[in-house]
Amino acid sequence: MDIKQKVIAITGAGRGLGRAIALSLAEQGAVLALMDVNRADLEVTEAEVHSRDGRCALFVCNVASEPEVEAAFAAIDEQFGALHGLVNCAGILRDGMLIKVKEGELVEKMSLAQWQAVIDVNLTGTFLCGREGAALMARGGQGVIINISSIARAGNMGQSNYAASKAGVASLVVTWGRELARHGIRVMGIAPGVFATDMTAAMKPEAMARMQQAIPVGHLGEAAQLAQTVQFILANDYLSGRMIEIDGGLRL
Ligand SMILES: NC(=O)c1ccc[n+]([C@@H]2O[C@H](COP(=O)([O-])OP(=O)(O)OC[C@H]3O[C@@H](n4cnc5c(N)ncnc54)[C@H](O)[C@@H]3O)[C@@H](O)[C@H]2O)c1
Repeated sequence: MDIKQKVIAITGAGRGLGRAIALSLAEQGAVLALMDVNRADLEVTEAEVHSRDGRCALFVCNVASEPEVEAAFAAIDEQFGALHGLVNCAGILRDGMLIKVKEGELVEKMSLAQWQAVIDVNLTGTFLCGREGAALMARGGQGVIINISSIARAGNMGQSNYAASKAGVASLVVTWGRELARHGIRVMGIAPGVFATDMTAAMKPEAMARMQQAIPVGHLGEAAQLAQTVQFILANDYLSGRMIEIDGGLRL
C-alpha cells in the first residue's frame, strides 16, 4: 500500500512508540487519526506532526471502553470518510509476581484489578479498535491492521497479565489475518524487544540492567526502528497473518 494520503489510525499515539510511528508516517504523507486517553500528550504529538507539515486529527479515547471506541471510529469516519490502516499500540504494564511467599507465608498476590487493567487495555482495547477499524476498512475494500505485541508474549517472570495480553494480540493477528483477507484487509503483528520509552523508563533499574546485558546487540531498540518496521508492513502487500520480531536478538 502506498501510504501517501492514506488515513491511518494509531492508538497510544500520545507518546513513546505510538508517537514515533505517527511522526514517521506523517513524514511519508499519511493522514493520521491520533488516538490516546491522554489529550495533553496527543496535543504534543499533533504539534510535532504539524512541524513536519503532516496532517492529523485527535481522538481522545480509552481503548478499553466500547462506547468510547465506537464513538472515536465514528468520528474518524465522519472526519475523513475512510480508514486504510490501524496500528494498535496503546498498552500498559502492571507488573507483579503471581504470588509472593516469604518463609512459607503468602505475603502478596497479583490482584484481579492488576490482571484485569492490563487485559482490558492491551487485549480488549486491541479487539475493540480492531473490530471498529476493520468495519470501516471492509467498506473501502482495503486496509492493514498492525497489533503491537511483545517479546513477553512467550511468557515472562512478573508479567502474568502483560504476557497473556500480548500472546492474545498475537493470536488475533492469525485469526484476523484469516478472517479479513476476503475484505482486502491484511493483519500483522510486531513483537518488540526492549525499546527506550517512558514505559521502559518505569522499569526497575536492576531489571533494566539485566535486560540490557541479555540483548545480543548490546543496547535497547530505538523507536524510529520500530516505526520503520510499521512502514515496511504497510508497504508490502504480501505480508499478512504473521509476527515480525524486532528485538536485537533477545530471547526471553
Ligand atoms: N517500550 C518497549 O520496550 C516495548 C516493548 C514491547 C512492546 N511494547 C508495546 O508497545 C506499545 C507502546 O509502548 P510504549 O513503550 O510506547 O508505552 P508508553 O507508556 O510510552 O505509551 C503508551 C501510550 O498508550 C496510551 N494508553 C494507555 N492506556 C490507554 C487507554 N486505555 N486508551 C488509550 N490510550 C492508552 C498512553 O497514554 C500512552 O500514550 C505498548 O503496547 C507496549 O506494550 C513496548
